[in-house]
Amino acid sequence: MKISIVGSGYVGVTTGVGFAELGNDVTFIDVDENKIKAINSAKPPIFEKGLEELMNKNRDKYKATNNYEGILDTDITFICVGTPSKDDGSIDLSFVESAAREIGKMLKRKDGFHTVVVKSTVVPGTTEEVVKPLIEKESGKRAFEDFGLAMNPEFLREGSAVDDFFNPDRIVIGVKDDKTREVLEMLYSPFNCPKLVTDIKTAEMIKYASNAFLATKISFANEIGNICKKLGIDAYEVFKGVGLDHRINPAFFRAGIGFGGSCFPKDVKALIAKARDVGEEPKLLKAVMDVNEGQPMRLIELLKKHIPNLRGKKVGVLGLAFKPDTDDIRESRAIPIVEELLKEQAEILAYDPKAMDNFKQLFPQIRYAETPNEVLNADAVLIVTEWKEFEQLDYKGKIVIDGRRVEKAREAAIYEGVCW
Ligand code: UDX
Repeated sequence: MKISIVGSGYVGVTTGVGFAELGNDVTFIDVDENKIKAINSAKPPIFEKGLEELMNKNRDKYKATNNYEGILDTDITFICVGTPSKDDGSIDLSFVESAAREIGKMLKRKDGFHTVVVKSTVVPGTTEEVVKPLIEKESGKRAFEDFGLAMNPEFLREGSAVDDFFNPDRIVIGVKDDKTREVLEMLYSPFNCPKLVTDIKTAEMIKYASNAFLATKISFANEIGNICKKLGIDAYEVFKGVGLDHRINPAFFRAGIGFGGSCFPKDVKALIAKARDVGEEPKLLKAVMDVNEGQPMRLIELLKKHIPNLRGKKVGVLGLAFKPDTDDIRESRAIPIVEELLKEQAEILAYDPKAMDNFKQLFPQIRYAETPNEVLNADAVLIVTEWKEFEQLDYKGKIVIDGRRVEKAREAAIYEGVCW
């Protein structure tokens, strides 16, 4: 099939390159010239494991352009633009809206049935109440008759997005008309996983409910972990026991300093805002965010238990990315931790294998180490991201406060885990 992808972030690029690998022709459309150049020279515009190899392999099956006319020669357009948070936590739909308008203008010039698929994470109702009228207005055509419209959420984790694309747990297809359903069923026919066909707003909600549940699981593990810490119990042992119950499952019970990234915090906040919009006060979701916001400060409290006055003390920070295997620092727990250390006037020496350049833009005033070993010479070390290479360091004789459970660090002279 001929596919156009609007928005070349990690979801757009991974999805597009994945579809190219499956034998489709893909056109990326983005406003960012740097991304276009990168894609056209087979360089991933983002760091994502396995993507560069796939891009090289499929070089002749995709191209990138800043011109929406790229849509004209395709059968399906995926909207994969970002949906950031506004200050009040609600979702900012401006990129989705402008994509819908531009797609609408192109559909006006295009003959034949074209399918538009929203892949961006949008609150329930958005595809039919925002995207549909904009495309209809600009194109002069009717959704579900002249053109197809669907919502197909992504469940890609950063760092393993390529693998997640090819091995999904499920594919959710939110549609209203048969023709659109058939197009998407054909596109996804190479996949063997369960495929769930729903109406459009159910598909939108499945994405939010999934992320909200995973975030809830983490905050739950953290709350139990905080109690465990007071009682001298290892939360990891506890959750090993809990996760063995097949009704519960062991994933996403890694207690620590909480969740960051471009999805969980934004999506939970957006769902809270949407709930309030319709007159529901989401008590549980609010608590999920409250627990999450409190976790990073526990690392500092534990540090101060051993070094009460941080002024002028050298504090090492191991890990800045919101999780390992990515250079992404969005909502990273390292941000509130470094802010607090700066308030305490500590001298910070930070290291991350991939995320230092991004972090430098936010915190140019702190020092960055060339190697993780340099960081270990600080008066105390905080572990903020569980990069694999941190399992190889020699922590003997050090003070280590661990927010992510790096087993090797337990050999430190003084070792504290947030929830164990
Ligand atoms: C998430 C979802 O997993 C994915 O399905 C969705 O499409 C996008 O959001 P991602 O943000 O890339 O993916 O990372 P994920 O691996 O889910 O981790 C998110 C955050 O939760 C990280 O900060 C991680 O450190 C934290 N986390 C995860 C925990 O603190 N404990 C856990 O047990 C698991």
